[in-house]
Amino acid sequence: MEKNRLSNFRCFLFLLCAAALMACQKTGKEEDSETDGDKGIILGFSQIGAESAWRNCNSRSIQEAAAAAGIQLLFNNAEQKQENQIKAIRSFIAYQVDVIAFVPIVAGGWNNVLQEAKDAGIPVLVTDRKIDIEDENLYAGFIGTDSVQEGRDAAKFLLKKFEGRPASPDNPIRIIELSGTTGSSPAMGRAQGFREIIDQYPQFQIIYSESGDFLRSKGYELMRSVLSSLDEIDVIFSHNDGMTLGVLDAIKEKGINPGTDIVIVTIDAEQAAIDALKRGEVNCVVECNPKTGPEIMQLARKLARGDTIDRFIHVEEVVFSEGDDLSGLAPRGY
Ligand code: AHR
Repeated sequence: MEKNRLSNFRCFLFLLCAAALMACQKTGKEEDSETDGDKGIILGFSQIGAESAWRNCNSRSIQEAAAAAGIQLLFNNAEQKQENQIKAIRSFIAYQVDVIAFVPIVAGGWNNVLQEAKDAGIPVLVTDRKIDIEDENLYAGFIGTDSVQEGRDAAKFLLKKFEGRPASPDNPIRIIELSGTTGSSPAMGRAQGFREIIDQYPQFQIIYSESGDFLRSKGYELMRSVLSSLDEIDVIFSHNDGMTLGVLDAIKEKGINPGTDIVIVTIDAEQAAIDALKRGEVNCVVECNPKTGPEIMQLARKLARGDTIDRFIHVEEVVFSEGDDLSGLAPRGY
């Protein structure tokens, strides 16, 4: 009887040790597989092009962050063509990458290719620009800037700048708007946010609005043509610094003093725009942050593991205005 009890107890101890050992082994294995999974991630990235210093910084941020994270990056430059982006995404699907990320040049036209990615079981991260899509489940999430807020910030600066000017449509504050690529989410968002605010004040009137495609050369051309037909301009609201730099060239050629004769509000916060702000040639610079590479890599890791991510992640941005002390501002890097 005693002997039996002893052997039962020994048996129980053996089972307990074996169970503990198995539990330890399992935990160790799970940790290993997470690390192994991270090592082998392949990320297909479709970038829209190299239209601005902002865009080049965005590409650099993605490439450097992928290298630092040990993520294999298949990077494609679509040279401003949606069809090239669709081709690139299809090639990432054929290659069976772990995650696809892309900057949609325009908001519409992504249904089919994103359905193909979904059918192939590849998660898609939308970055920088947003998309318009019937089935929101065709992509995992978005990381980038809040362009509606950028437009609001630009308009709020004008409210302060023209504070005290009588609210009369007979004495309007005439605004020229140079917008970004037609159909792109930053062009639509910035226009929407700007109007949300200024439409409440009848003295603000947009007298001309045209797309300069986010290009310095088009900003210059448009401004030259505007100046040849309109001579009463109070404000230029430009959707990006590239176009603004072209605008400044055109204005100065005409002997007009930007920042004094015409109020200039711009978006991006490239170094050249900050320098113009310091010189008094620009009055307000709304930041659009291109350095999203590290966050994109973190999200790519999560998606490759099968985790879900937040639908919309907006990066932090600040507004630089005339009168701010910018002496301690670090070089922008773009
Ligand atoms: O999508 C972001 C916009 O695209 C930036 O404001 C602009 O400079 C870029 O080309």
